[in-house]
Amino acid sequence: MSAVPGPRRRDERGPHPLLSVLACPTCSGRLLLDRDALRCACGRRYPIVRGVPRFVPDDGYVGSFSFEWNTHNRTQLDSARGDTMSRDTLVEKTGLDAQQLRGKLVLDAGTGTGRFSEVMAGMGARVVGVDLSLAVEAAHGNLGHRDDVLIAQADIGRLPFAPATFDVIVSIGVLHHTPDTRRHFEALVPLLKPGGTIAIWVYPDAGDYRIRNHWIPWTNKIPPRMFYEWCRWFVPFVHRRQGSRIQSLAARLFPYSQQSYGIENDILDVFDGYSPRYHGIHSPAEVIGWFEAAGLVDVHEAGPVQTSVRGRKP
Ligand SMILES: C[S@@+](CC[C@H](N)C(=O)[O-])C[C@H]1O[C@@H](n2cnc3c(N)ncnc32)[C@H](O)[C@@H]1O
Ligand SMILES: [Zn+2]
Repeated sequence: MSAVPGPRRRDERGPHPLLSVLACPTCSGRLLLDRDALRCACGRRYPIVRGVPRFVPDDGYVGSFSFEWNTHNRTQLDSARGDTMSRDTLVEKTGLDAQQLRGKLVLDAGTGTGRFSEVMAGMGARVVGVDLSLAVEAAHGNLGHRDDVLIAQADIGRLPFAPATFDVIVSIGVLHHTPDTRRHFEALVPLLKPGGTIAIWVYPDAGDYRIRNHWIPWTNKIPPRMFYEWCRWFVPFVHRRQGSRIQSLAARLFPYSQQSYGIENDILDVFDGYSPRYHGIHSPAEVIGWFEAAGLVDVHEAGPVQTSVRGRKP
């Protein structure tokens, strides 16, 4: 009796078809695959480690996200949850749907565990997901087997793509975690093809996000593992006391996540909200101004959630 061969692993199927989208971040030159690295004619070499091309030496200022996304590598992934949480979030924050994404080459800037890359590939796009943090290990674990998604570790401030590469650029919940939200948004615009669409969601300058801004300088100094253990205690504690005075006081002083996606998601979301090094808040008018100053047209709020903005390159 002969054994039936299973599906071949990604690395047994030859080089990933989307590797050709990558370019040297220094000179924009073509990269050639040389065993376990990508080489540029300018002499630079970018290693491929555990299946992921690396364009940064380490995770810089996003260590909290390296911890977060390897701890909750599948909590928000639709395919693991069996629901459409991330799909609904993508549509709500970008207004993009399958019709607009099918057949498109998309950059998911700040992919985290790859949840939106998964959704967009499921809608028929080819997606390159980049992240500065070691979330790329989680994203590659989730999506590395797919031909339509490539994960790379890179900094939005210095991305490995030639100008005018992408039909669509999406960045959800990312740019406000960089040292300069506007500058990092501006770094994305040249990568868009003429006629291409860019959609971003950043924290609004309102409500709980303002309160969190007062806590962040303190909470982001706590070692991630220690703060995470506190979140694991705090969230169930307040959930169990729903409607009590202590719970309403906690919700006012230290706004915490009370979404409808389960307690693991709420624990993750509280950690996510209070641990990053940078936490910018921006009004829709401010972000619309950046889009217009960058020469984008058709600029509008992309959905009902502040601050989601979308525009097109003429
Ligand atoms: C809140 S998470 C959002 C991840 C994903 N977009 C999602 O919504 O599930 C923010 C992500 O942005 C990444 N990030 C922050 N600054 C970055 C930069 N300069 N370049 C690339 N990724 C960055 C972080 O590492 C983190 O994974
Ligand atoms: Zn080069």
